[in-house]
Amino acid sequence: MHPYWPYPFWIAHRGAGRQAPENTLAALRLGLALGWRGFEVDAKISADGVPFLLHDTTLERTTTERGRASDRMWAELQTLDAGGWHHSEHAFEPIPSLAQALDLVWAHGASLNIEIKPTPGDETATGRAVAELAQAHWLAAQDQAQSSGRPGPSAPILSSFQTQSLQAAREAAPALPRAHLFHQVPAHGPELALDLGCCACVVHHESLDAAMVQALAQGGLKVWAYTVNELEAAQRLAAWGVDGLITDAVQFFDPRLNPRDDPQRRLHLLPPQGPAHPEKAGS
Ligand code: G3P
Ligand code: MG
Repeated sequence: MHPYWPYPFWIAHRGAGRQAPENTLAALRLGLALGWRGFEVDAKISADGVPFLLHDTTLERTTTERGRASDRMWAELQTLDAGGWHHSEHAFEPIPSLAQALDLVWAHGASLNIEIKPTPGDETATGRAVAELAQAHWLAAQDQAQSSGRPGPSAPILSSFQTQSLQAAREAAPALPRAHLFHQVPAHGPELALDLGCCACVVHHESLDAAMVQALAQGGLKVWAYTVNELEAAQRLAAWGVDGLITDAVQFFDPRLNPRDDPQRRLHLLPPQGPAHPEKAGS
């Protein structure tokens, strides 16, 4: 039997978060408008347990506030300006809840990779809350689609560097697929991922080689590489047979074509366009 794997080859990092403020609905809308149908976002929880999108532990890089985001209640977090740092055009773009991001992505028939990015110390609570929300939201969307005779959205895939978060996610939402993130796959990495019931590993592209891609695939794991912004690296990874690439370069790579469908594993590029905004990559 084939594993459940409805995801596109191309995934926009932080929701197309280089050309627009990362982890916001504005970024997801931009990616959707450019034809992207797979998105990665970072999720953590507020002081009152609401899953929302933010990469960093603290607020200063991507909002006008300072300090740990997880110390604030969701009612306050959702009023912050998470867009003005990127460009004045995005001033007062709010921090979205995870539920809002799911609704937007699904309304366009796209899929979401939710990276569980806990505030240190919140690994288990974040894994549990993110997974519970994602599963409940997905099951409700499935029911709704079924009653109106439409196909339902793909299951969100949960990923994390934190084994504890993946364990908590597994217990809270066994129906959702999971992926282990690795800066570099340790010797016991494939076994760890399989023991956690993961179907994939998401690995920093510079630490991958053909042998590792093959070893993971032979172990029954899908392989995604992050964050791949250069043509040469993308070509090399596609030739090794990775199942997907996470990228910031949403105006460079053509997301509609999957090199895995092409015997020569060719990539396609979009025609050159001027940058929408100054490139501000995050940490
Ligand atoms: O999920 C892949 C990638 O997003 C991991 O790194 O720091 O951009 O969340 P980071
Ligand atoms: Mg991430």
